[in-house]
Order: sequence, then C-alpha cells, then structure tokens
Amino acid sequence: METLNPHFTLRGVGVTLNGRRILEGIDLDIPKGRATFIMGRSGAGKTTLLRVLNRLNECFPGSETSGEVLLHLDRGVVRPYAGDIALPELRRLVGMVFQHPNVLPMSIEANIAMPLSTVRGCGRDEAMEVARLALQEARLWEEVRDRLDADARTLSGGQQQRLCLARTLAMKPDVLLLDEPTSSLDFMAARGIEELLAGLKGRYTLVVVSHGREFSARLADDIVILRDGRVHGPSGDIDADLDTCPEGLERMP
Ligand SMILES: Nc1ncnc2c1ncn2[C@@H]1O[C@H](COP(=O)(O)OP(=O)(O)O)[C@@H](O)[C@H]1O
Ligand SMILES: [Mg+2]
Repeated sequence: METLNPHFTLRGVGVTLNGRRILEGIDLDIPKGRATFIMGRSGAGKTTLLRVLNRLNECFPGSETSGEVLLHLDRGVVRPYAGDIALPELRRLVGMVFQHPNVLPMSIEANIAMPLSTVRGCGRDEAMEVARLALQEARLWEEVRDRLDADARTLSGGQQQRLCLARTLAMKPDVLLLDEPTSSLDFMAARGIEELLAGLKGRYTLVVVSHGREFSARLADDIVILRDGRVHGPSGDIDADLDTCPEGLERMP
C-alpha cells in the first residue's frame, strides 16, 4: 500500500466551547498534497475541526482544545498548541477560506495588498506583483485587471470567493482550509471554484468541508465523516450524514 506523508496528525483531539463538548477523540492523519474532505450534517463539528488546524477556535472565549496536534513541516514536526510555531506563522502556513466570502470593504487590489504589507511587510511594488500572481492563480485576474481600484463588494459572489482565495494564496500557505467554499454560490460559480480547486490539488494540501456528494466525489482523495463530534469513518452510508439542503454544485443550473 502507498505510504502517505502526513501534513497534520491529530490524536485524541477534543474541543470544548463554552463548556460544551463539540469534538471528542479525533484521530486523523491529513496527507500532504491531497484533498481531504470533511463531511457530515450541519452541527457535526466540521467547521470546528477545520479551526483546530489553525487554532482559530481560540477566538472564542472559553474554548479548550485537548489531545495532540502535530504539523509536519520541512524543518521538522511542530506542535502548534505547545507554542512551537508562532500564531501568525501558523495562520499564514495554514490559510483559511470561509463559507461566506469575507472581502474587506476596500478596493480589489487593497484586499490582497493590505494584508501583504501588514503581515509580510511587503513594499507596494512587491505587493502588487504578488497580488497579480495570486489573482492569476485564483483565476480572477482577467476579470478584474482593468478595475483593480473598484470596491471589492461590487464583485459577484463567485468573484468574491476567488478574491478571498487569492488573498489566502498571496500569503504563500502550505495548507488551504476551505469551509463549504461553494455553498453560497450559484451553479456556474460553484463549478468554477471546483475546477479551480482541482488545479490546486497536489501543490497544496487541501482540507475541504463539504456536504455536496458530487463535489466531493469529483475532488476528494480522502473523505472523513463526522457525526456528533466524532470521526465516523469513510465507509458506510454517507447519505445518512448529508444534509437535505445540498451544496451549490448539486443544484441544477
Ligand atoms: N463559538 C461557539 N460557541 C459555542 N458553541 C459553538 C460555537 N461554534 C459552534 N458551536 C456549536 O458546535 C457544534 C458544531 O458546530 P460546527 O463546527 O459549526 O458544525 P458544522 O460546521 O459541522 O455545521 C454546533 O452544535 C454549534 O452550535
Ligand atoms: Mg460549518
């Protein structure tokens, strides 16, 4: 059998939010360079599991994460929860794209350039060059190259989601966390995001939350089913773990 290099190793991971156990006993290996899909019903803990990987649950007061999380880097294995890696560096390496596009209320260009200058200390010329490359990688450049000064909120939903992806790619991550990236989009826009993610596979480790069966069938290398905060395993009846409300891709045009 093929041996896969892990990018993340989780052992006995649990998360408590406001005194409530949300995740429990999570044992998971997320392989490098592959697309791991996390599926399960609404409330199963999918988003919370993604947030374990970049310590984003800590944004909620009273959150507690237990167990072992290992991040395998070229320079060796680090334990994000033991402080082996600074939080800004962790969040840069493990970038996240949220379910609803969260563009900043500023120009298309500034949406990418501003975080680059504040987080990575890039000068204007460098930021512009990195922004152009990121927009090309997110397949948005041709649509916005003549209106980089326009307010990002004037873009369509699909374009905003690609802008958010470009903003994350500009930080040069190793891992991309994508939380139901097509759920707020119409069929064509969702299809565009799917094709884009297919192109990113291999170059990045993708961890994608989805409850779209066809979307995951086309893109996933590995599927993890969550049920009531526990890993249920990839085998068995997936239908029981899918919401009746499907993802954008499952909708007909
Ligand atoms: N900040 C929070 N504080 C308390 N409970 C939360 C918080 N975020 C999520 N939860 C609860 O944790 C459970 C799992 O949520 P979530 O990870 O968002 O599930 P999913 O993404 O699978 O829909 C839900 O019952 C939700 O209500
Ligand atoms: Mg969620």
